Parts: sequence; C-alpha cells; structure tokens
Amino acid sequence: MCGIVGYTGSRQAYPVILKGLKRLEYRGYDSSGVALLKDGELNVYKKKGKVAELEESMIGKNIDAQIGIGHTRWATHGEPSDRNAHPHSSASGKLAMIHNGIIENYALIKQDLVNKGYSFKSDTDTEVLLNFIEDIQQNNNSTLEEAVRIALKRVTGAYCILLIEQDNPDTIIAARKGSPLVIGIGKGEHFLASDASPIIEYTKEVVYVNDYELAIVKPDELILKNLGNEKITPYITKLDMELAAIEKGGYDHFMIKEIFEQPSTIFDCLRGRLDAKEGVIRMSGVDKHIDQLINANRIMILACGTSWHAGLIAEYIIEELCRIPVEVEYASEFRYRNPIVNKGDVIIAISQSGETADTLVALEKAKENGAFIFGVVNAVGSSIARISNAGAYTHAGPEIGVASTKAFTGQLAVLMMVALNIAKHKGTVSDERYKSLLLELEEVPEKVTAILKNAEDIKIIAEKYKNASDFLFLGRGYNFPVALEGALKLKEISYIHAEGYPAAEMKHGPIALVDENLPVVFIATKDVYHEKIVSNMQEIKARKGKIISIVTEGDMISPGLSNDYFAIPPADELIAPILTVIPLQLLSYYVGIAKGIDVDKPRNLAKSVTVE
Ligand code: G6P
Repeated sequence: MCGIVGYTGSRQAYPVILKGLKRLEYRGYDSSGVALLKDGELNVYKKKGKVAELEESMIGKNIDAQIGIGHTRWATHGEPSDRNAHPHSSASGKLAMIHNGIIENYALIKQDLVNKGYSFKSDTDTEVLLNFIEDIQQNNNSTLEEAVRIALKRVTGAYCILLIEQDNPDTIIAARKGSPLVIGIGKGEHFLASDASPIIEYTKEVVYVNDYELAIVKPDELILKNLGNEKITPYITKLDMELAAIEKGGYDHFMIKEIFEQPSTIFDCLRGRLDAKEGVIRMSGVDKHIDQLINANRIMILACGTSWHAGLIAEYIIEELCRIPVEVEYASEFRYRNPIVNKGDVIIAISQSGETADTLVALEKAKENGAFIFGVVNAVGSSIARISNAGAYTHAGPEIGVASTKAFTGQLAVLMMVALNIAKHKGTVSDERYKSLLLELEEVPEKVTAILKNAEDIKIIAEKYKNASDFLFLGRGYNFPVALEGALKLKEISYIHAEGYPAAEMKHGPIALVDENLPVVFIATKDVYHEKIVSNMQEIKARKGKIISIVTEGDMISPGLSNDYFAIPPADELIAPILTVIPLQLLSYYVGIAKGIDVDKPRNLAKSVTVE
C-alpha cells in the first residue's frame, strides 16, 4: 500500500514524479504529495484525495527542481487529510520523507521524542520516524545516511522510505524492509519507485532493492549498502515490460481492459508450457523440483483475497489429480498462529503482486521451518517470487485495476498445469484423463473469447439488479470458490453487500435472507453436482428469490428456473472455474459502472496490501 516515486537527474523532477504517482495510484489514493528541492529550497506540496487533485492544486506553484520525491497514500495511521499526507517535513524543516509501510514501535519512539520537546504536525508513524532520524543526525552530528542506518536498526515493522535533505542538492537516501523498491538506472539520472511502472519509459535497467538495504542515490552514482554499512554490488536486471501494458489502450477502465485481455493472458500463460498434441507440460520450476513435489507429505497453500480463492480451487484440483492432502490458509492467520510445518511439506504461495505483506511474512516463517516454497506470482522479480525456492509466473502482465481479474485466471491456469504435471509424474491420473484435460486447457482462451463476445448480455443483467442491497452467490464443488470470488468482486467495486456460499449450505442460514428482492447468482454449469444445484435453484425459486444463473450452453433445465441466465461453452468441471468467473467479473464491473463508482479505484481499497 502507498506508492512512492523519486527522481534525481537533469530533467524536471515534478512531471516524472506526477506521472509515476498516477501509475502507482492502484496502491492507494487517499492523498498524495511531492517534495521538490532546488538551490537549498525544499518545497513540500500535498493534498487529500486522488493524484489529480494534487495536480490541480499545483497550478501556479514553483515546480522547478531536478530532484524530488512523491507519494500516494493508503491511510494507516491517521485519517486521509492534507495534514497526514506525505511527504512529511522534519521538525527543522530540513528533511522531507515518504514512507510505505508501518512502523510498529512508533508510539514508544514518539513518546521519547515528545519527552525531548518534539511536537508533531500529523498523526502518522512516518513523521515519528523522520524526527527520530533527524534527532539522531543532530545528536550524533552524523550524515543523513548514518542517521537513517542507526534509526532503522531501532525500528520494527515494514518500510520503504525515501528522504531528501535541504543541504544535499542531488541525493536521495532510500531504504527498505518489507515494502518494495525498484531503482531505474538512466544516463546521469536515477528513478526510484514502488514498482517498475513509473520507470519503464525512461530505462529498462533496474535494481530491485532487498530488505535491510540502504541506497544512496545521486544522478551519476548508486551506492547500495546493508545496515552494517558494507557496500553491496547492485544487481542490475532488464525489465521485460512494455509501456502499452500499463496504459488503458482505448478502454474506459483498466478493469474492463484486463477482463478483455484474458484470452491473450491465459494464452501467454500456457504458451511454451503446454503442448497438448505431444501430451506434455514443461515448467522449469516444476521439472527441476519434481521429486520434492511428488513426494510432498502435504501441500499448504497460503494467499490472501482473490489469490486465496484460486488456492481453494487448487485444493480441489490437486487432491483430485495428485492425491496429496492440501490445506489452504489465509496467510494473515498462518503467520500469527503456531502452525505445524514439517520438512517435506510444500507451500504454494499465490500472489498477484508478490508483495502482500501477510503472505510474505507467512512464507518467511514456513521457510524457517524447512518448508519448500513454490511461488505462483504475477509480478516478475517481486519479493514473493524472490523468496520462493521455485515457482511459475502467471504471465498476466501488469494488473492495475484494484479488483483482480486476469491475474486470477492466470493463477488457475498455472495451478492446473502444476497439478497435472505432478499427477502425471506420480501416476495418479490416467493417460486418457490427462490428455483430455490438456486439450481442454488449450481451448480455454478460445472459450473465454466466446464468453466475452456476449458481455453486453451481462450488462443488461447488471442494469436490472444494480439497485439490490444484497446478493447471494452459490456454487458447488469447483464452482464454490468461484461463488466466493463473485461475491468479493461485487462487494469491492459496487459496494453491494454480497455473500458466497456452497449451495448446499444455504439451508443452514442464508436461505432466511431470501425474498423477492434478493438476487441469487447460481454457478450451475454441467458437472457431477448439476442435479443437486438444480434442486437448490428450485428451493430459491419457491421462496421468490431472483435467480441469475451461469449455465452450460445447451442446458435445458437451469434457464427455465432462472429469471436471467448466461450460457458459457461446455468444459470439464476442473477447468470450468476459469470460465465461470468471467461473467461474474463482468457483472461486478457493469454494476459498479451503473452505480457511478470509480471501479479502478474503489473506496478504501488498495491493490497491493503491503501492510498487515
Ligand atoms: C488486495 C487486492 C486483491 C488481491 C489481494 C491479494 O486485497 O485488492 O485483488 O487479491 O490483495 O493480493 P496478491 O497481490 O497477494 O494476490
């Protein structure tokens, strides 16, 4: 959460920072601000609201500077306001700092500083850390770099911080632990950001800064050190990302662009890995560690949000195909309890961003206990990708809309290939089933295209139900987690209360909610549970609930029970979730739009949750 950008070089810093902040707004949009330094004058401008509001407020201001830092905030300590917006200025006014993360022991540090006579302009943990740094700098008569190093040894929590100093005309000091930082290397200039999107149009050479590293960044020089003041050689990697991938490309919103990209993102995910004709799946992350994977005593899947839903589907698939016991857990729960993790356990971590704080810390804990970590990650080079022992990227490209869509279907495609690969090596799937699933998987991009051709039908359904105050989503088997995902999507971007349930469970509570005002979405595709779910539809119909169903083309029964239905191409039940989720993504998008909600930036949310 929170996006940070920094620039030092010969260009005007403000336009670079502003554009960068717009790209990072998915990380938070409660307030934003910039600090610009020129000829010993350090100007800080900040504004509550989205980056566009900061931009407007900057008209007529002095923006001439070749060095600066900027921040877009997702509020943790202190309400969204101008006062709590970053950058923060130190007590002397000589330092400005931005921060992504949470300083957990800030209250103790603050108390010490208050005792020393400090007062604070904001409610943030960031201002506390900044004044702590300045206090050390003044007391020890040390450089800013030294003061930062000393301070960071005393703080607990997560941070990526960037600082500039009035008396230091061209240097940014940066440090990270737990929150991401990428440094782009240009000719006589450097760019710093939470991810590569603000950097990509200037340079493709980047350094991913690791935890407990500190960077001293000048136009012509990048020095990396650890907190023990030892120099580290920066490891430069080449970005494999195009500018077009992070722009809207003619669509109204990133979310709808990303929904419509799915035929090609799923194709990219399968490409070079799946060869249905030859009957093989090639995944180097799996192939190199196949013994570890097929001999796993148990697989634990750790994830959050939508990625957790992908994990639930993977549980069903892996147990079915590989006969390995699977447990799926919220990373946030796992990290704080005393879980049993043994050598020989395999942990599958699922994450779009690769930066979710809870998932990252849960993995560190599992790794300490000797587990083998297999990462299913979208963001290349991200922290979770780097902490994993092996893994497979989803190759969905940058996902910018806050509600995850194409990353989810990419996760399902990868997890399906991983399961098939293990099952094949383990001998727990028949040749016939294996081949038919490979063929089915290969056909997914085409089937998704067919579903998207009828997107307008979902728009009509969305218009009809946009004013409902609650929704119920019901599914069975592989489609039960899809029901959870459908409900989450709708909540996220339409602010309508929605619940997902296994269809059979509705009799244990949710059925009490059913009346003529409640839309109930059934994921009722043809599978072994079909007759059962048809009975559940009857039960809802008898109580006058409004049924919206996702059915298989050619189904003669479910549409007759439904007020509205949407048909998708037939698919094996293991593959079906990649298809059934698409109309639900569209439903939430169109309801959100019909209600006038900014679907790419729904209230209170952030795409990358880098705080716990
Ligand atoms: C946030 C996002 C969700 C995402 C979840 C987990 O809540 O809004 O879309 O599913 O974080 O994120 P990850 O990047 O780990 O998949």
